[in-house]
Amino acid sequence: MPSDDVTVPADFWEERYASAEHVWSGMVNHAIVEVVSTLTPGRSLDLGCGEGGDVVWLAQHGWDATGLDISVTATRRAAEAARAAGIPDDRIHFEAADLETWSPHESYDLVTASFLQSPVDLPRADILRRVAKQVVPGGRLLVVAHAGMPPWSAHAHHHEFPTPDEEVAALGLEGWTVEIAEIRSREATGPDGQHATLDDTVVLLHRN
Ligand SMILES: C[S@@+](CC[C@H](N)C(=O)[O-])C[C@H]1O[C@@H](n2cnc3c(N)ncnc32)[C@H](O)[C@@H]1O
Repeated sequence: MPSDDVTVPADFWEERYASAEHVWSGMVNHAIVEVVSTLTPGRSLDLGCGEGGDVVWLAQHGWDATGLDISVTATRRAAEAARAAGIPDDRIHFEAADLETWSPHESYDLVTASFLQSPVDLPRADILRRVAKQVVPGGRLLVVAHAGMPPWSAHAHHHEFPTPDEEVAALGLEGWTVEIAEIRSREATGPDGQHATLDDTVVLLHRN
């Protein structure tokens, strides 16, 4: 369901990142650790990488990791985080681009998208279907999404919160096997130190 918000996505996200020194924790997302730890490293691409927590973790765990985000500020911070972590430049890459118009040319063993959700327009399913074509046979697509609103979210009414079945159906990928499609719970801490148990929709697809 498209948002009725007319804000330009690039402006919205750039302002969001520019408004704070750090927007996210810098830590890898739980589901990425749980799922990717079972996979053999190769080339990975993270969609909507934000400040790079997942991409840095992937590079630290043997992946030739690329992260892409619409915000220049986010990708700059992500590159700084990679340098601070001592990751060699040839093992990690960040690019600022709008996924709505970005055309991938490379192929990947793993494409990840953690919370690629937005209170402003984002043709998320189209993006995931298009980029999934760049996954090699035997490779995987891992999509992690908020299954509900974090209690501290200020943008709840604009977000979509897909169930696992809705997520798989929206992707509509033929020639893929569903390996995981479930809700996973995790403990989280909000921006003001609030504690909550949050549900994530986790979908892992394997390209046949
Ligand atoms: C909720 S944040 C998640 C960030 C990160 N993956 C994480 O887990 O912390 C959504 C991210 O998607 C990015 N984004 C939104 N629309 C985008 C677009 N059209 N192209 C590329 N990135 C986009 C935003 O800039 C933001 O960093």
